[in-house]
Amino acid sequence: MADKLRVGVIGCGEMTVNHGIGYMNSSKYEIVAISDLSDQAMKDYDEHFAEWDDYKAEHFSDALEMLEKSNLDVVSVGVWDIGHSAMTRAAASSGIKAVLCEKPMADTLGAANDMMLVCRRNGVKLAVGHQRRWLPAYTLAKNLIADGEIGEVSFIKVYARDGLPNYSSHQADLFRYLLSNAECTWAMGNVERETDRWARAIPIEDKALAVFGFDTGTEAMILSGLTPKHGWGAEIFGTEGMINLTLQDLRVMNGGTNGWDHRVPRGNHATPGDANFEVIEGSIEQAHAFADWVNGDATEEYRSDGESGYKALEMVHAIYESVRTHTQVQLPVKTMVHPLGVMIDDGHLPVRYPGRFDIRNRTLRGDNVTLDTENP
Ligand SMILES: NC(=O)c1ccc[n+]([C@@H]2O[C@H](COP(=O)([O-])OP(=O)(O)OC[C@H]3O[C@@H](n4cnc5c(N)ncnc54)[C@H](O)[C@@H]3O)[C@@H](O)[C@H]2O)c1
Repeated sequence: MADKLRVGVIGCGEMTVNHGIGYMNSSKYEIVAISDLSDQAMKDYDEHFAEWDDYKAEHFSDALEMLEKSNLDVVSVGVWDIGHSAMTRAAASSGIKAVLCEKPMADTLGAANDMMLVCRRNGVKLAVGHQRRWLPAYTLAKNLIADGEIGEVSFIKVYARDGLPNYSSHQADLFRYLLSNAECTWAMGNVERETDRWARAIPIEDKALAVFGFDTGTEAMILSGLTPKHGWGAEIFGTEGMINLTLQDLRVMNGGTNGWDHRVPRGNHATPGDANFEVIEGSIEQAHAFADWVNGDATEEYRSDGESGYKALEMVHAIYESVRTHTQVQLPVKTMVHPLGVMIDDGHLPVRYPGRFDIRNRTLRGDNVTLDTENP
């Protein structure tokens, strides 16, 4: 068996705890170093993994010092989006093998391009954390579609909220995953931004309607903040049937099913219905696949590499670009800055109700913001 991969973590927040759950439970890694600007964040991170022999993290307040001193194989990047590119590039230049960077891949397509370039030049594998590609119901839906169980997929509908890159980079990635990595060829949409809303220091809209076209002939739609509905999964319509997908199960109907056929595929590490099913199953399976990819043991292509993460980001930025240019945007997107930011700076999207607020301010440390579990 290969030696355990030596992991360093940059940004000890909510999401890299999930990376740690994956790393520890897969038994293929040891976490040897963590870095955060906040000592408390690192202490809290330790608490999560105190029981694990493979957790022996040295603390660093400076991520660059950690990269220099810790002889790492793998780095998890879980700072806010605006830091993804700089941290990934620093890690990729430090002699490591691979980076697992959180979604959305970066704040701009230009920054995401830089990440891919530096990783490529240094022979470093780049993964983006679209962990739902490892949920069994998602994979069952993808396989049913690939097997023609609902004919040609004509339309997919999903609901979302809280900003296209923040929330719906996952939805864009889901469309591509369900369609076996079909290419999005065009996008058109609109946004409403009456409040000065941000998500982790990135400006977002209040509401969005996003429509995409794929080279398979499929169209897909995101309704974000337009109705009270939101959540993961999808309604998938084919020429010969339909699939209704959630994080844990799906219902499929076609000429042979005699109504809806309910399928609940088992996970390898958790059972649908278990508390935290998505985190446990998605994080551990992602960690297994990532280790196999890094070690050269993979039997399939890694499901969420940098290129795939880029395409998810590109799709949601294409919607902003459609709003900015009042056009149906053809992919690839050429605009390398954040189009919503450009519109805000240009006064193109004046807010009706002034007062900047960040929907993720509850995660800031050193203040008295209470955890609002109803509005994560
Ligand atoms: N894949 C998913 O489903 C999912 C879910 C939630 C968040 N995310 C993504 O994960 C990323 C992090 O989000 P979060 O909610 O975990 O944030 P968070 O605020 O909980 O954690 C971020 C941490 O980074 C630290 N940090 C900031 N600057 C740093 C620096 N220069 N060096 C070291 N540490 C630094 C902060 O102190 C904080 O502890 C975001 O990009 C977010 O979009 C992904």
